[in-house]
Amino acid sequence: MAYNLLKGKKGIIFGALDERSIAWQIALKCHEEGAQLVLTNAPVALRMGEINKLAEITKAPVIGADVTNMDDLKKLFEESLAHFGGKIDFILHSVGMSINMRKGKSYTDLDYNFTQKSLDISALSLHRILRTAWDLDALNEWGSVVALTYIAAQRVFPHYSEMADAKSLLESITRSFGYHYAVRKKVRINTVSQSPTRTTAGSGVKGFDSFISYAEKMSPLGNATGEDCASYCVALFSDLTRMVTMQNLFHDGGFSFTGVTEEVLSAMEK
Ligand SMILES: NC(=O)c1ccc[n+]([C@@H]2O[C@H](COP(=O)([O-])OP(=O)(O)OC[C@H]3O[C@@H](n4cnc5c(N)ncnc54)[C@H](O)[C@@H]3O)[C@@H](O)[C@H]2O)c1
Repeated sequence: MAYNLLKGKKGIIFGALDERSIAWQIALKCHEEGAQLVLTNAPVALRMGEINKLAEITKAPVIGADVTNMDDLKKLFEESLAHFGGKIDFILHSVGMSINMRKGKSYTDLDYNFTQKSLDISALSLHRILRTAWDLDALNEWGSVVALTYIAAQRVFPHYSEMADAKSLLESITRSFGYHYAVRKKVRINTVSQSPTRTTAGSGVKGFDSFISYAEKMSPLGNATGEDCASYCVALFSDLTRMVTMQNLFHDGGFSFTGVTEEVLSAMEK
């Protein structure tokens, strides 16, 4: 059921790769709620062609941009402003990649060049995006920016590797830039800490299948799906959450505040 919560709003969605992507679900929901969108992803991801399906459904142009490249980002924002004929109301940052994980390198054996690249793609990119919007004065007052994160920023998950450090940095940039953008333009910036979700990035984590079942058993409401996440992000982009900023918001069925569940205890007794 749609509520028209984003009627008249314009947003840029980073990170829809295929139907499993959390950003894909969020783009669909934003469209259902009346938003106009621009979709963007890395040029290499666009070559896979999947995003064109989403573009057709959401009637959105696709503009390529590597989030580590300031020229790409400037072009993306300039073209989006021209397309919308005005400023932007919301941005979704749904971008992450661990090069060490991809290459099978564990946390105690990090390649630092890979690590720098991972931090740039997964965390500093939020600063780059915000800085580009700031310099071009591309966001409307009371705009809303959401970046997706994971609880490995607060607690140890041994196979999450350098992504745990990337997420800590992402959440820190959210607070730091959140302060400046709130003072300057009443723009709010938050992270949403999502349950494990079966996507290309998610499935790259070693032991993901057992881990997702463990999280399901450890969450009183069960794991939040990508579609659930989309509804939450719509609320954050809407005018109903105007005073929420600089927060890390857990969207995980209660996982983050659960010590143990009866289901996990009974599994231990077997
Ligand atoms: N899947 C999970 O379990 C889970 C849980 C919590 C948070 N998250 C976060 O959600 C976000 C989206 O991930 P997802 O799970 O939907 O996986 P996904 O693989 O569908 O999305 C990751 C996206 O990042 C994009 N990307 C990578 N490098 C890029 C670059 N240089 N420039 C521009 N885009 C680039 C990819 O093309 C892809 O679209 C990530 O930040 C991820 O860490 C995922």
